[in-house]
Amino acid sequence: MIMKIAITGAAGQISYALIPLLLERFKVPIELSLIDLPDKITLLRGLEMELEDFCFPNLKKIRSGSDEEPLFEGVDVAIFLGAKPRAHGMERSDLITVNGATFHRQGKILAAKAHPKVKAIVVGNPANTNALMLIRGGDYQLKNQVQALMRLDQNRAETALKLAGHSHKEVFVFGNHSPTIFVHGASNEINEFVRKRGADVIKARGMSSQASAAKAVVDHLDDWMSHEDRHYSAAIYSENNPYGVDEDLVFSFPFSNKKGILNLPLSDLEQGMLKLTEDEMQKERQIACTIPFSN
Ligand code: LMR
Repeated sequence: MIMKIAITGAAGQISYALIPLLLERFKVPIELSLIDLPDKITLLRGLEMELEDFCFPNLKKIRSGSDEEPLFEGVDVAIFLGAKPRAHGMERSDLITVNGATFHRQGKILAAKAHPKVKAIVVGNPANTNALMLIRGGDYQLKNQVQALMRLDQNRAETALKLAGHSHKEVFVFGNHSPTIFVHGASNEINEFVRKRGADVIKARGMSSQASAAKAVVDHLDDWMSHEDRHYSAAIYSENNPYGVDEDLVFSFPFSNKKGILNLPLSDLEQGMLKLTEDEMQKERQIACTIPFSN
């Protein structure tokens, strides 16, 4: 069976790192729809040429361009990398007004054009609120088919734990992909490491994480699409969650691809951190909802 994958922001650096990893990890025949802004078309063409030259046996077709409607047609997986990036010194919430309207518009198109069982993963920041806008743009039709990437935070937490000499069987992060995130059952040092890691990378490289973000997308999709029961951190639509979190957010919980949200005990300190990250997301939602939408 062919897997049709659409990628927005496809001319960017996460995409450049991501596509070879996707083609290596998923051995099924793949068709790619590469989407980016009109001024990125030459870059997209260059990417297409390189992908042709890779000679991946499972890459069956590439379509590219800026016209989202035909490029989302029938896709099984949609990966939303495209968002205005955060520069050094900018907070994620500064991006909400820029990116919210784009995701709302794309959500409408995705719900109308994609395969009815499409799985959509949002990476572009602020990822959780962008994912909520994607869901709202599609009139909540895809509320259980949209997740925001938290796997980079989970992978960072695993690294921090390993560096500190701990081994945890399962590592989960809660809340927003932002400095209010927290790692279940972890020390303050581990939480600080994870919270600052994205900004530390930006400071050191002058741009945000790309290869590690690409690897995290592939890890996330691999778990989400697996036939086995896999447990991982995913920001999902928060309706009916067992933690008492506001039910209209895209919030990171411990997640099973077969059973849904996992209900783990939280300490009093963690209950407090849960509230902080929830408050932040409620504020982001409020900002996002002041944007005039085209539909
Ligand atoms: C990251 O976690 O590396 C990025 O989301 C940071 C950012 O704001 O671009």
